[in-house]
Amino acid sequence: MQRLGLILALWFLAMPAGAQVRLQASDVLQDTGLLKHMLPRFSLKTSVRVQRVPDTGDLRLAETGDLPVLRGGGQVFYLTVLQETPEARRLADWLLSKVGQRTIGAFKRDGHAVYQGAAGLAVEVAEAPPEGDAVAGEKLSYRLCGRCHVVGERNLMKGVGSTPSFSLMRTFPDWRRRFEAFFVLRPHPSFTQIDGVTEAFPPSAPPVISPLRMSVDDLDALVAFVATVAPADLGAPLVHQ
Ligand code: HEC
Repeated sequence: MQRLGLILALWFLAMPAGAQVRLQASDVLQDTGLLKHMLPRFSLKTSVRVQRVPDTGDLRLAETGDLPVLRGGGQVFYLTVLQETPEARRLADWLLSKVGQRTIGAFKRDGHAVYQGAAGLAVEVAEAPPEGDAVAGEKLSYRLCGRCHVVGERNLMKGVGSTPSFSLMRTFPDWRRRFEAFFVLRPHPSFTQIDGVTEAFPPSAPPVISPLRMSVDDLDALVAFVATVAPADLGAPLVHQ
């Protein structure tokens, strides 16, 4: 038996040194048993060993960080890649993959699930608040978007009836993504140009309405303004425009 242990230890040591990733993880994830449940499954699949280290790791899984990975016990845990090694990348990808997320959800303690995958939370939770100039963004919104969208009190009567108001769109969980990409979402591409981002209108399809032109900074400002718009209260009776 001792021999076998020795052979296994030697084999373990003989594994290519690169095939490992150093993980800094919050103690609570160790204490609940999640790491013990999750990491061997990853290692088995990839032959990449995971070594838990107190600091100077390749990856960190903790209460703060870049990308949400899982939640449970009233906490969201985030992943941060500290050293961009192929193994760190592999573990990061695995944690965020469907298999990884399912493995996290399948972990049970005393018969109860403890954690849930949170990779889908990515944008809403992890994103830094918009950095643009909200005051400039408000002016731009009224000027550029206000001929179709109700932006706020100042153009309540001016929007085009069927076009969603800013406060309605603010209720979408992914409002920020939609605003950041509005210029590729219909109907805008046919009349919108963002300097240095969109292509010129093709000569065969000039905009049929007066075109909307803005810079990337303008768009940042606009998103910062929309962040300040109160989401419509959908519980209240609908107010027709
Ligand atoms: C010429 C009219 C017009 C202008 C100008 C306009 N929009 Fe729109 N926008 C629309 C219409 C119509 C829709 C609804 C499209 C739909 O429901 O399919 C829409 C939808 C949107 C959506 C939701 C898109 C989606 O698919 O989720 C966003 C975000 C948006 N507009 C942002 C803006 C912003 C920001 C501006 C100004 C910079 C702007 N729009 C200017 C007509 C306009």
